[in-house]
Amino acid sequence: MNAVEFIDFNTFYGPKAILQNINVEFASNSITAIIGPSGCGKTTLLRSINRTAEMEIGFKSQGDIKVLGKSIKEYKNVSLLRRRVGMVYQIPVALPLSIRANVLFGPKYYGVKRHSDLEAITEKCLRQVALWDEVKDRLKRPAAQLSGGQKQRLAIARALAVEPQVLLLDEPCSSLDPASTGLIEELLTQLAEGLCIIIVTHNLFQARRISNETAFILDGQLIEKAPTQKLFESPDSPKTRGFVSGLFG
Ligand SMILES: Nc1ncnc2c1ncn2[C@@H]1O[C@H](COP(=O)(O)OP(=O)(O)OP(=O)(O)O)[C@@H](O)[C@H]1O
Ligand SMILES: [Mg+2]
Repeated sequence: MNAVEFIDFNTFYGPKAILQNINVEFASNSITAIIGPSGCGKTTLLRSINRTAEMEIGFKSQGDIKVLGKSIKEYKNVSLLRRRVGMVYQIPVALPLSIRANVLFGPKYYGVKRHSDLEAITEKCLRQVALWDEVKDRLKRPAAQLSGGQKQRLAIARALAVEPQVLLLDEPCSSLDPASTGLIEELLTQLAEGLCIIIVTHNLFQARRISNETAFILDGQLIEKAPTQKLFESPDSPKTRGFVSGLFG
């Protein structure tokens, strides 16, 4: 089963059409990169999946998106949908809480109470993002004291703590240095087993390094999605060829 499936999906902000007739599937156990020029609709596509786009004034959609085989409209409880679909943003967001409380924000919200369970989740998730050794002696200190790269790994740990099946990342490395970027790329590659990862990136090298498939969006339309090597080396569309070879950006 595909983890995420767009079916004849369109979005609008007021009268302006943004995404147009999107039909695309995203597999589990796989990393898909979304590339395309600024303003083409990449963030809108991600935020449509977890229904945060509809919080924007004037947003409308037509068509459907299925998450784990179920229409996002059928998730009567949107928090259940967002539990399955985690999201990490461009600017690392640390909640104004301790490191530990950042990781446990979701699990506590969803009702995990036992101290031993909470401790286990904290350690497991911080290890998954290769942050445990750096922070295990200061779990009760404010997360605000972490560096940008550490905060971004913490944000990924926070997303993972509720055991999502889909992880959306919107340019997660754009404010990070090469070392932090490398760490995050490595951990995403490890996490892909068991997860559907969809990552928006402006860094075409990053897309090539970490993704199994790449989707190219232009002016709200999905031009093509293909195995990453194919999309970069022998794309079907001349528009894709122009974009990946740097003719326009
Ligand atoms: N809240 C909003 N209200 C009105 N228009 C919006 C809103 N958010 C985005 N848009 C418009 O929707 C279009 C797609 O925006 P989106 O943020 O999805 O692009 P993007 O591909 O993520 O761009 P970038 O690479 O710059 O992040 C743009 O024309 C943008 O101006
Ligand atoms: Mg964006």
